[in-house]
Amino acid sequence: MRRSLADELEGTGDLRSPRWRRAVERVPRHLFVPAFFQATDVPGRGALWAPVTDRQHDEWLELAYCNKTWVTQLDGHVTPHDVAEPVQGDPTSSSTLPGLVVRMLEALDVTDGMDVLEIGTGTGYSTALMCDRLGDEHVTSIEVDAGVAANAAAAVRAAGYAPRLMVGDGLGGVPEHAPYDRIIATCSVRHIPQSWLTQARPGGRILVTMSGWLHGHGLASLTVGEDGVAEGRFLPGTISFMIARPHAAPPLSNEQASEMIASLADADPRPATVGPDIRQDWTGAFVVQLAVPDAQRLTRRVVGGPWVDYYIDTRSGSIASLTPEPGGGWTVRQSGPVPLWDRVEDSIGQWRQIGSPPLERFRIRTDGRVQTVWVGTGDARLTWHLPVQ
Ligand SMILES: C[S@@+](CC[C@H](N)C(=O)[O-])C[C@H]1O[C@@H](n2cnc3c(N)ncnc32)[C@H](O)[C@@H]1O
Repeated sequence: MRRSLADELEGTGDLRSPRWRRAVERVPRHLFVPAFFQATDVPGRGALWAPVTDRQHDEWLELAYCNKTWVTQLDGHVTPHDVAEPVQGDPTSSSTLPGLVVRMLEALDVTDGMDVLEIGTGTGYSTALMCDRLGDEHVTSIEVDAGVAANAAAAVRAAGYAPRLMVGDGLGGVPEHAPYDRIIATCSVRHIPQSWLTQARPGGRILVTMSGWLHGHGLASLTVGEDGVAEGRFLPGTISFMIARPHAAPPLSNEQASEMIASLADADPRPATVGPDIRQDWTGAFVVQLAVPDAQRLTRRVVGGPWVDYYIDTRSGSIASLTPEPGGGWTVRQSGPVPLWDRVEDSIGQWRQIGSPPLERFRIRTDGRVQTVWVGTGDARLTWHLPVQ
């Protein structure tokens, strides 16, 4: 099964080098996913998560070696052993799609003797692959969730590896074992933590998915210079990871949302030049998020009416709504100090003017405080600042 998974990952082009192939052939993934959730559609109840455990599911072993992401925790605490029936929930830990794991490991561009820090141990599968490739003494991994970390530690040990496993917030890095040649995050961030810059060796690299509250994602690879400034680019591919827990969107209660929606009652409507469907474009979604990084989205409808898209920035108390019109197009209403949809339309308009370049043409730079993403050069250069808190 390991060999056929390796064959499959080579076939998709994710697995490219003999050393990572050997790691995939040697690390037994089933030890890392003894139980997980499988997405399932239950008639009348919608999309739910069905628990799969080795004891109750004949196909468990085969599933463990599928090129699929297996969710191992919901809502920050629910494990497959806690439930007997399919349940609702938001994934908070998983064994990432093996194809994505090895694509990132290949992109990490390691050589023998390099020290690697991984943020987001999860099940420990990617940690074990790195141990196999680099040696236990070169791998440090940190996981924020103590229960997840304990399961990972047991699985990593059972598979015969012994990296440094830490429990804590990986946004602070692991200073006691720094410096690192490579820092890889298997959770996404809104901005690059300063600690990663100081804990990377000069010339070292950071590989992390940049994301945000509007679910735009881009895998960035940055090189850290002697001056502690990191600069790099976005890599091709549609890669997404769950957001690092401290970077998650602030809670938005129903009451708070209703209050903000009510503030639109006096807003002047106007036709939108960009509709919310722009988010169906991978780069478009990322640009929308760059334009309004503190906004989060929700959809609501009044009975008999259309679904309305709301963009809400709780920090500034701003809101924009986009209502679909029966004949096509959208109507915008905005309220609060930040005209959220004007900002989206400005950024998308400028991005279109320079030919809608794809995300792999975007670049990123950070000195730990100011963090910018840009695309284009000269007069055609567009720059956005990432939120640093
Ligand atoms: C997609 S999973 C990791 C997948 C893992 N590398 C694997 O191969 O199984 C993301 C993990 O990041 C963890 N995480 C989220 N925020 C974190 C943080 N601030 N520091 C460390 N880990 C974090 C989550 O608890 C979750 O277990």
